Amino acid sequence: MLRGNGNDVCVQCHEDQGKFTHPVGPEVLDSHTGQMVTCVSCHNPMGTEYKYHLIEEGKKALCVLCHKTY
Ligand code: HEC
Ligand code: HEC
Ligand code: HEC
Repeated sequence: MLRGNGNDVCVQCHEDQGKFTHPVGPEVLDSHTGQMVTCVSCHNPMGTEYKYHLIEEGKKALCVLCHKTY
């Protein structure tokens, strides 16, 4: 029920992360879903048990969801 896509809606307030973060947007496709990577590929704005509302522990577990070779 986001009010826009998972990049645009977040960068309204988080301007810095809109410019400097992991690559996101229509050019960056998540191979699992075929959808673009957005802020909510990694963050759940409803809150999680991890720091920064990450969907997984952010040092490795999060990254290897997509980057299998790390
Ligand atoms: C209406 C403004 C607004 C929008 C839209 C918004 N945020 Fe935030 N967000 C905030 C504020 C305010 C804080 C708290 C900042 C602080 O504590 O320094 C915050 C904090 C956060 C934090 C840090 C939490 C922490 O533990 O330090 C994350 C991550 C975050 N937002 C992600 C997102 C994501 C992803 C989206 C889009 C789905 C989003 N935000 C949309 C205003 C917003
Ligand atoms: C590929 C995963 C990933 C994506 C995509 C991503 N983030 Fe993050 N984000 C992280 C990780 C990991 C951290 C924790 C960094 C740390 O531990 O210092 C973080 C930290 C944050 C924080 C808290 C620290 C800070 O910089 O104030 C905010 C706010 C945030 N992200 C917002 C966003 C927004 C907005 C977007 C979309 C434009 C976004 N993130 C996209 C992984 C991601
Ligand atoms: C939701 C899936 C997803 C997650 C989670 C994710 N990535 Fe990525 N990442 C991608 C995609 C897609 C690309 C762009 C295509 C590629 O280079 O494989 C990318 C690109 C990158 C790049 C290359 C950036 C560039 O400018 O070329 C780095 C570095 C990277 N990711 C590191 C990380 C780290 C570190 C984490 C964990 C904090 C992480 N990724 C989590 C999907 C993801």
